[in-house]
Amino acid sequence: MRIDVLTLFPELFQPFLQVGVTRRAFESRQVDVRLWPLREHATDNYRRVDDRPYGGGPGMVMLVEPLERALAAIRADRADTDAVAGRAPLIYFSPAGAPLTQSRVQAFASGPGAILLCGRYEGVDQRFLDRHVDEEVSLGDFVLSGGELPALALIDAATRLQPGVLNDAASHQQDSFSDGLLDCPHYSRPERLGDAAVPPVLLSGNHAEIARWRRQRQLEATVRRRPDLIEAARRAGRLDVADERWLRQIGSDPGL
Ligand SMILES: C[S@@+](CC[C@H](N)C(=O)[O-])C[C@H]1O[C@@H](n2cnc3c(N)ncnc32)[C@H](O)[C@@H]1O
Repeated sequence: MRIDVLTLFPELFQPFLQVGVTRRAFESRQVDVRLWPLREHATDNYRRVDDRPYGGGPGMVMLVEPLERALAAIRADRADTDAVAGRAPLIYFSPAGAPLTQSRVQAFASGPGAILLCGRYEGVDQRFLDRHVDEEVSLGDFVLSGGELPALALIDAATRLQPGVLNDAASHQQDSFSDGLLDCPHYSRPERLGDAAVPPVLLSGNHAEIARWRRQRQLEATVRRRPDLIEAARRAGRLDVADERWLRQIGSDPGL
């Protein structure tokens, strides 16, 4: 998968591409991240890529023309890849975008990659967005100084879903949201820590019992913290008879 990133701060990406379970995917180019410094597409002596907003007000706005030159360069460079994998969408990170969810990441991870545009200042001239952007994505209801962190979040989340990136392929299938629910609690050594012991079922070796215990903990965590996800899982047909029975049972437990 190829991902092109259009940014004013390419240096923010380098350290991230060199660490963790995702590093090998970047080094082998299984996930091919290419950085495009926007200032290289400015034409004046000051390498200007922003200017004051029409109508007045604080802050600066990213200019259409350097962005269009950069985008044309990326599209030309991607021509061979896009001919095989399909035209890559241009994604702009914005607080006004659709929230980034695991199902969006899953769709992205199995697609042709993308061109990611990281905004800065007050954002991008609307005319560039109207002409070129296929999708706006938000990291949440808060305002960051730039789109680089959302771009890194999407790259990381999609890379760990690529085949062979995680040591244990089952690992991401058990993560929160993968099956529509939050994750269950995890334990490791020591078996006993003061008065806190590892739940005995996890030491039993009974795989069916362990799976049942984990599923019930997932349902409990989700109903307590994110009841909206339970409703969504129900609508998507992801809860079976045993799940519904357990939800009814814990629904009458005042401790939950
Ligand atoms: C200071 S912000 C601009 C905020 C913009 N004036 C607004 O109020 O929506 C600069 C850039 O950071 C990025 N950004 C900030 N918050 C974000 C979020 N929650 N999700 C995705 N991108 C964000 C966007 O690319 C944005 O253009």
